[in-house]
Amino acid sequence: MSTESNPAVAQENPWADPAFVATYERWADPTTANLARIALDRTGIGTGSTILDVGTGVGALAVPAAKRGCSVLAFDSSALMVERANRRLVGFSDARAVRMDARAFDLDDDSFDAAFAIFSVTLTPHRDASLREMVRVVRPGGIVCVVNWATRYGSPVFEIVAQAMEQLDLLPAGGMGHQIARLDEGQLSRAGCVDVSVEPIGSPGEPGDMPAPTEFLKELSPLFRVIPGFSNLQPAQLGELRSLIADKVTHGGPWNLEATLGIGHVPGN
Ligand SMILES: C[S@@+](CC[C@H](N)C(=O)[O-])C[C@H]1O[C@@H](n2cnc3c(N)ncnc32)[C@H](O)[C@@H]1O
Repeated sequence: MSTESNPAVAQENPWADPAFVATYERWADPTTANLARIALDRTGIGTGSTILDVGTGVGALAVPAAKRGCSVLAFDSSALMVERANRRLVGFSDARAVRMDARAFDLDDDSFDAAFAIFSVTLTPHRDASLREMVRVVRPGGIVCVVNWATRYGSPVFEIVAQAMEQLDLLPAGGMGHQIARLDEGQLSRAGCVDVSVEPIGSPGEPGDMPAPTEFLKELSPLFRVIPGFSNLQPAQLGELRSLIADKVTHGGPWNLEATLGIGHVPGN
């Protein structure tokens, strides 16, 4: 896969841009995978279980699930994400990623022991429809598990750049566009789950979780194109932003991962 940015694609759909996907795999997936492993632990899902990973990205949940001996179907709407996930699933005969849309799953009812969505459908406008689809494809008595950010703008790197852009008045009117909606029990209950539990989960920030302060903006900018106004910043504004971010990364923190885990059960059995 080329890791060169395709400017037209990056503007239209950042998730389909090669530079975005490469940056996501290098910097985002290792941290989301920490929280995906916590989700797997909490559900008790293990060897022989049949699981679905909705909005898999490059396989943050699918890869550890395959390593635990699960049979895994992962899907994502981005062909490049699917390609990367499949490369990481090579060697696991019962795990694969396919391209599919989370608004309507092309899957039969009651086909999985568990369905997971890690930082995926809860961040979309079609969250409720996708949660209902997760319930539909899981067998009675099976598990629906969702992880979402508990912070305003997501992972620590997004919090850092959002705070800095706010401070320098670089966000267009309307700010970041939207803040992340908190995951709550009602979202899973309304989708049809019973015995729902919601709890905070997290993991301490590690020194290798983000680039060096001076490299932060250069290294992560493909991800930040999803922030309104970021792509239109002028060189002088980028210079100011770079210095403020370097200061925050050096002196701020700790930059812990803070998320919410929701687990529900499909009625029956
Ligand atoms: C923030 S990433 C999370 C990826 C992965 N689950 C992780 O934890 O690293 C969100 C993913 O959801 C995918 N996505 C967004 N909307 C989707 C949709 N309608 N159908 C399928 N995937 C979707 C994106 O392409 C992206 O890979």
